[in-house]
Amino acid sequence: MTERTLSIVKPDGVKKNVIGDVISRFEKSGFRIVGIKMLKLSKEDAEGFYIVHKERPFYGSLTGFMSEGPIVVMVVEGEGVIDKVRKIMGATNFKDAAPGTIRADFATDIERNIVHGSDSVQSTAFEIPYFFSTMELA
Ligand code: RTP
Ligand code: MG
Repeated sequence: MTERTLSIVKPDGVKKNVIGDVISRFEKSGFRIVGIKMLKLSKEDAEGFYIVHKERPFYGSLTGFMSEGPIVVMVVEGEGVIDKVRKIMGATNFKDAAPGTIRADFATDIERNIVHGSDSVQSTAFEIPYFFSTMELA
């Protein structure tokens, strides 16, 4: 099924100059970028985005990290893209990430793990409109 997912190059990924590499992996997998922009989140913006993790012990640290510098948010479209992007990203903890995945190649920390990808259709319904209006999606 053709789907859309929300992906983010996190502040550590932007600092490491891997924006292009992340986009390239998505494009080489046959997916289309249908919306993209660079943003700098406030702590409150990051807290709103990761509201599902509000009760987690890492919520404060995660939202501090996500608001420490610019990020690139994008909407990626294609057949089965939600699960496929998560496979391309690799496991949350880079130590568990399969070889050749983004996190295995670039992440250095369980938190500073380069990319975000929506984990379900329900998540995309919250995450895509959090950053993009209909007009901004091709
Ligand atoms: P994401 O939402 O960013 O795509 O990552 P994910 O699904 O693989 O992982 P999730 O469980 O949703 O966690 C969101 C982000 O929080 C940070 N984290 N830190 N210190 C920790 O134990 C811990 N666990 C998670 C990571 O940045 C993770 O991607
Ligand atoms: Mg997640």
